[in-house]
Amino acid sequence: MSLTAVKRQRSLGGTARKPLVPKGWGLFLFGRFIRRGDYIMEGKFYVTTPIYYPSSRLHIGHAYTTTVADALARWHRFLGKDVFFLTGSDEHGQKIQRTAAERGITPKEYVDDVVESFKELWQALNIQYDDFIRTTDARHHRAVQEVFRRIYNNGDIYKSKYEGLYCVPCETFWLETKLQDGNCPDCGRPVELVEEESYFFRMSKYADRLLQHIEEHPEFIQPETRRSEMVNFIKGGLDDLCVTRSTFDWGVPVPIDEGHVIYVWFDAVTNYLTAAGFPDERAKLKQWWPADVHLVGKEIMRFHTIIWPIILMALGEELPKTVFGHGWLLFDSDKMSKSKGNVIDPHELIGEMGEDPIRYFLLREVSFGQDGNFSRRALIERTNADLANDLGNLLHRTLSMLGKYYQGVIPEPTGTLESVDLELQQLAETTCHRTVELLDRLKINEATAGIWRLVARANKYVDECAPWTLAKGDETKERLATVMYNLMEVQRITTLLIKSLIPRTSERIWQQLGIDVPIAGMTFHDTAWGGLKPGTQTQKGEPLFPRMELEEPDETAEVSSPAGTKPDENAVKPDEKADAGTEDRLDGVVGIEDFAKLELVIAEIKAAGSVKNADKLLKIQVDVGGEERQIVAGIAEHYQPEDLIGRRIVVVKNLKPVKLRGEWSEGMLLAATSTDGSLELVSVSDSIAPGSPVK
Ligand code: ME8
Ligand code: MG
Repeated sequence: MSLTAVKRQRSLGGTARKPLVPKGWGLFLFGRFIRRGDYIMEGKFYVTTPIYYPSSRLHIGHAYTTTVADALARWHRFLGKDVFFLTGSDEHGQKIQRTAAERGITPKEYVDDVVESFKELWQALNIQYDDFIRTTDARHHRAVQEVFRRIYNNGDIYKSKYEGLYCVPCETFWLETKLQDGNCPDCGRPVELVEEESYFFRMSKYADRLLQHIEEHPEFIQPETRRSEMVNFIKGGLDDLCVTRSTFDWGVPVPIDEGHVIYVWFDAVTNYLTAAGFPDERAKLKQWWPADVHLVGKEIMRFHTIIWPIILMALGEELPKTVFGHGWLLFDSDKMSKSKGNVIDPHELIGEMGEDPIRYFLLREVSFGQDGNFSRRALIERTNADLANDLGNLLHRTLSMLGKYYQGVIPEPTGTLESVDLELQQLAETTCHRTVELLDRLKINEATAGIWRLVARANKYVDECAPWTLAKGDETKERLATVMYNLMEVQRITTLLIKSLIPRTSERIWQQLGIDVPIAGMTFHDTAWGGLKPGTQTQKGEPLFPRMELEEPDETAEVSSPAGTKPDENAVKPDEKADAGTEDRLDGVVGIEDFAKLELVIAEIKAAGSVKNADKLLKIQVDVGGEERQIVAGIAEHYQPEDLIGRRIVVVKNLKPVKLRGEWSEGMLLAATSTDGSLELVSVSDSIAPGSPVK
């Protein structure tokens, strides 16, 4: 896409209003001066997922890689680039042939059916791929045969005899010395002895060139831990690779020797070239190749960072710019895999809660590159805290106020800007730039967390500016308009930033914001502060995410940490965590930053009542400043419910919601206990409005 095209799109974003910095300016970030336009480049982005085996249905682990690829593809489209996002299916090999035979159908009948289910899953997850390659496609057979022919003609493929061990589930050849207890070192299952006349690929010849490439291109293998693993593997010596099989026939036929089929991994990795137009469509190939990012799980790094690059070297084609080997999604700390039978079916989850909570969880929860845990409980907690609470509630409460004060119409921000306003605008601006930087470095979960820090800041801004108080006086009307404008504008910007991550939710928010230009046409340029047009009629809708109940009430969760601390904890490396722990134990002193994580506010008690089967608990409804919350507290022995009504107390507002005896508690109240066991709520007089911060 050319710069002029980008500029034309820019004008769709509405008129600019009082930007913090004039358009075309930028800000200092990471010591560099950055302009918004610097990111909008003429350029392309080619991203791939592994092509998955249709040996059975896909699970949440496959959904993980594909969701990340989709988010990246969408993000680069948003930056204005031409994007090619490829996924597909790896349909040949002994494993598939055996599976089909067990079912009494042909391999093709078997794969056709399973591949359909792949596509259904991607549709349900809102995956927007540009091409779906099947290794059974005629275009792919042609490409693989051409790769084989060219390398054979170069002399890098030769005929010999193979005698050795083979793991069918992994479709991998093994040397006896690499086995563990006589089994496949990757999956632990038995290997088979195979003996056949075969063709070999002279991998050994390219080892030094590959090492040199890895050294000169630190971005080639990521993350860094995998790079050193691969370097060690290559330094350990590369054997020539057996690249044909002759004891079964479900594969791409060897073009020069009937009765042989091409080794399934040689066939599979070539898909990335086929889809880019190899060998005939030179213009297409020139446009897309080399790929920008191959996303793969860590267990198939060897194939992508050793075999695949050497095939490309032998062909004289460029190597992909980056191969990223992410960690595994574990289920109860065990690898989720089809063979272990502990897989989570994404279809069921999507049916139950929609695709966005799952997309969000996958992008946010797992530190990209490392292993991460998947559990239903964690998914529900994330959804409730980040989506229902932070994101959904912000929209809901601000639209309610806008409805009350302005009949839902975005006001003109005519007041002078105060420091809280500037701080909010500045954070919005920094977050936009940081998101570009982080996604460029494939720091997916950090980028997502960063956007949610802006959402949290906006929620805090509501409480700091207390629009409900401003609405009371005539002299604060101008201030109210500015505050409400800023709140809606920051949400317009966050909605653009999350559009690549949770697209359907962003569309729903956009609709409620009432902006008449479709979000689909928006680009990164539109994230500049001031794009929201005063006079826009908002459309308050249903809450974005209904709170989900955890199946088992969890009373131990009472002591869990406030929602705000969890994201940062995840980003910390294990050794850093240990260090921090030691410090804590030294003297029990916390820094001001720790205290600042707690959001303490004044709440007015609106109603109170008992909790079934819990003598000590009361549930109370409080107003925390334009928002109702329920809190369950152990104060039944000290207060009669009716005596509590109207009291203004102090509550911790950002405590992670928990369920106590079947009742949600969305916060905690503060009370003092004296030595004789009597208890008194910490309260303030009526002159302090609900929602006022306690610092
Ligand atoms: O290996 N956690 O296909 P495959 C995270 N056909 N990612 C997971 C995962 C988990 N628990 N389980 C699967 C193949 N994945 C070959 C690929 S490519 C030229 C050929 C994801 O069906 C992850 O991306 O076994 C992993 O690498 C891939 O699915 C393996 O899929
Ligand atoms: Mg696998």
